[in-house]
Amino acid sequence: MYNCPDSITDSQGRVGSVSLFKLAAAFVVLFLLTSGIVNATDRTGYYGLGTPASPEEIRGWDIDIRPDGKGLPEGQGSVEDGEFLYEQQCAECHGSFGEGVGRFPVLAGGEGTLTDSRPSKTIGSYWAHTSTLWDYIRRTMPFTAPESLTSDEVYAVTAYVLYLNDLIEDDFVLSRDNFTSIELPNNLNFIPDQRPDVANGRCMQDCKDPASIRIVSSVMPVVRAVATPVIDNRAAQAAGEKIYGQYCSLCHKSGMGGAPIVGEVSDWQDREAGGMVALKKRAIDGYTGQYGFMPPKGGFTHLTDQEIEEVVEYMVDSSQ
Ligand code: HEC
Ligand code: HEC
Repeated sequence: MYNCPDSITDSQGRVGSVSLFKLAAAFVVLFLLTSGIVNATDRTGYYGLGTPASPEEIRGWDIDIRPDGKGLPEGQGSVEDGEFLYEQQCAECHGSFGEGVGRFPVLAGGEGTLTDSRPSKTIGSYWAHTSTLWDYIRRTMPFTAPESLTSDEVYAVTAYVLYLNDLIEDDFVLSRDNFTSIELPNNLNFIPDQRPDVANGRCMQDCKDPASIRIVSSVMPVVRAVATPVIDNRAAQAAGEKIYGQYCSLCHKSGMGGAPIVGEVSDWQDREAGGMVALKKRAIDGYTGQYGFMPPKGGFTHLTDQEIEEVVEYMVDSSQ
């Protein structure tokens, strides 16, 4: 399954199992559900789509290794076997001594350089956990064939990288049993995040019913029109003028797209005859007229109805 030609690989080198067949099958299911051919009671899960992942499928993804060794599979590998493998499968990019070929990552050395202006961050000088090395190699390396190594091979090549960093002797055999005995030198410089907001315990009490959660705000504020009487007329006029200049003058100053020009009496006479209420309504709702298209609120839908009404007052007043 992992090597099938239509499988996909993500940036971590993890191989996925979404085949074209499954995709097609998903669409068929979607069609059946939406068309009502399949009864709603046949649906599974929260959204009524898909099937529950089987324990076997979950096992395929659940491969992370923890610093305490949890997740490590059975197996072992010696520095000696690792050297052989490393020369064959890793050295062309990472160099025989982990020095890195060209711009490929350096895997060894760099001790004491972390405070330099250009630190050399390697497994020996920087990394915190041996488990990261094991996990990383299994998931992603060799770069061109991720997940191609057996567990024993990962143990062996991990041992060899540790050896290149002077962390173990050349006769060491790495296994699940002695894995946690190897501490990386920089480990203690990684400290738990002290900020208060990351130390909060997880609250799983009095949780809100998910069905009651609603989106109450959006990036673009939609302000409802409030029917407050305009008390200070001059303030409203000034507001109208300002909004006109900012938004409406785009079309209404030059007559772009057939817009009636503000200040041209003849452009407005007939329109005013229909009454201010209708004029305002059309500016708010938008309409297609004899001359062109007036978008709802000129296209600036974040403006309130009241604001539009003020602008229209201003536009008409300025065109007498
Ligand atoms: C074709 C070139 C190539 C080969 C072969 C290769 N690697 Fe890599 N390796 C890379 C590249 C490129 C990266 C960086 C990937 C990234 O940062 O996304 C990398 C990253 C790594 C890292 C992490 C380095 C760091 O500091 O982030 C380790 C460890 C590693 N490789 C080990 C191995 C081992 C072990 C093998 C052999 C089994 C191997 N690589 C084979 C190209 C290669
Ligand atoms: C993209 C161009 C454009 C913008 C921006 C624009 N308008 Fe218009 N507007 C038009 C056009 C075109 C018409 C004329 C349509 C017709 O009658 O054929 C029009 C007509 C109007 C009318 C006359 C309505 C009627 O009943 O005759 C009013 C009032 C109006 N616009 C107000 C506004 C206001 C207020 C703004 C700013 C919030 C604005 N417009 C922004 C293109 C625009």
